[in-house]
Amino acid sequence: MHAERPAIAGLPAQCWQRLEQAAASADDPWHTPALANLDKDGPQVRCVVLRAVSAAERTLICHTDIRSPKARALAADPRVSWLFYDPVARLQLRAKGTAEQLHSGAFAEQQWHALHAGSQALYGQDGPPGMALTEGQSAGQERTHFLALRCQIEQLDWLQLGRQAHWRAALRWRGGQWQAQWINP
Ligand SMILES: Cc1cc2nc3c(=O)[nH]c(=O)nc-3n(C[C@H](O)[C@H](O)[C@H](O)COP(=O)(O)O)c2cc1C
Repeated sequence: MHAERPAIAGLPAQCWQRLEQAAASADDPWHTPALANLDKDGPQVRCVVLRAVSAAERTLICHTDIRSPKARALAADPRVSWLFYDPVARLQLRAKGTAEQLHSGAFAEQQWHALHAGSQALYGQDGPPGMALTEGQSAGQERTHFLALRCQIEQLDWLQLGRQAHWRAALRWRGGQWQAQWINP
């Protein structure tokens, strides 16, 4: 935990560095954030694995099944909100942006090949995620169902809980750079 409030100017880089660390480490509590979106029935939220991060492109990447309800909903409304919380550091980060669906092409291929066979096999189930199970279903084509969700982030909301005070900052991507300011927690 921070003993002192960090310098505001360094916060955007600090956030992205921590996100990059979280994508690289399965033990990091930020490795399995919640990803929220809107569908025709209202808000939806679920855990995902943070697979990759690019600070330069402002992107957070996860994977899903192209047949999943979230993929369908994001095609209609690509707005997303990510939620990260580290209970030891008592550090929350919210990230708002827009999801792009990458099914074919170099990026999706690279993401697919980076997966272990066990993770690839998850995409072989017969029928979409959420479908009722019946007897005798067989595995389908794994790669066909794989989808990379690349979310470009426009806003970050950083909240550090402290013993005596909490610190919160709003970070916005404006005019080609991150603008950050302290706000009331
Ligand atoms: C720790 C954890 C990690 C998960 N990672 C993913 C993931 O990376 N991608 C994914 O599609 N679902 C993942 N899931 C499952 C989702 O939370 C969710 O149950 C599933 O994707 C169906 O969501 P939907 O009906 O909104 O499409 C994960 C669940 C848990 C508990």
